[in-house]
Amino acid sequence: MFLSADPIGLFDSGIGGLTIMREIIRHLPHENLVYFGDTAHQPYGNKSPQTVLRHTLENVSFLLDRKIKMLIIACFTASTHALEALEQKLSIPVIGVIQSGFEELMTATRSKRVAILGTNSTIKSGVLQTLIMKRESSAVVFPIACPLLAPLIEEGLADHLATRMIVEHYLEPLKEKRIDSALLACTHYPLIRSVIQESLGHEIQLVEPANCCAFKAKSWLLSHGLLNLQQTNSVYEFYVSDDPDKFRHLTKQFFGSEIKNLSERNQTAS
Ligand code: DGL
Repeated sequence: MFLSADPIGLFDSGIGGLTIMREIIRHLPHENLVYFGDTAHQPYGNKSPQTVLRHTLENVSFLLDRKIKMLIIACFTASTHALEALEQKLSIPVIGVIQSGFEELMTATRSKRVAILGTNSTIKSGVLQTLIMKRESSAVVFPIACPLLAPLIEEGLADHLATRMIVEHYLEPLKEKRIDSALLACTHYPLIRSVIQESLGHEIQLVEPANCCAFKAKSWLLSHGLLNLQQTNSVYEFYVSDDPDKFRHLTKQFFGSEIKNLSERNQTAS
């Protein structure tokens, strides 16, 4: 039995999932949240589906021990390879960014000429491409793998010229493709949204899953009587599998304030 005061759990390979958590906090200010960043195993985007699934299951078991009432997979790569398995395995609701990102993209596009920017693993899986083509067979999809972007962000180089140059390099093939929308299919990319927007041009809509995820979470909690209505201060707990100092520093860089309640998860097998 779950209580409305039980927390929602979220995880990512690092800080990217905080772009989802930020929106959850905005829409669900009374919810208690537990965030896990699997910093010991990042980047996920260059790993095999089996490895991503293995790390994901470890993360989820850690979050389940915290008695979460809902799981949000705040990582496209993990959603791509583990969402179905987790939906079958868990008795709590599971929200994956992949479905939300896909829905937001289909709502945004008029011309149905779209780009997907994601990690190697997400793009190579073809999962998003298949979802789009099933919904809209006349769509023209340009998948672009951007393997260096999440590592550059995790290195604190979001504002560095090197990041601008790499973004230019990855997005060059999209020039003249007449897309009208691009899905940021990695939760780290909203942290360099302005760089991507500048490279693609301001007429292209950049789409993110965060808002839709928060909406889905809220409607499920509401309809199941598990929305936390207590007006007390919400508790946010953060865990990482390695180097909490680096995580603390990065979080301050992107979100402005120092996070409290950050601990390192005891390492088991790596
Ligand atoms: N933020 C993650 C995603 O949405 C993955 C970044 C990485 O670890 O490669 O795919």
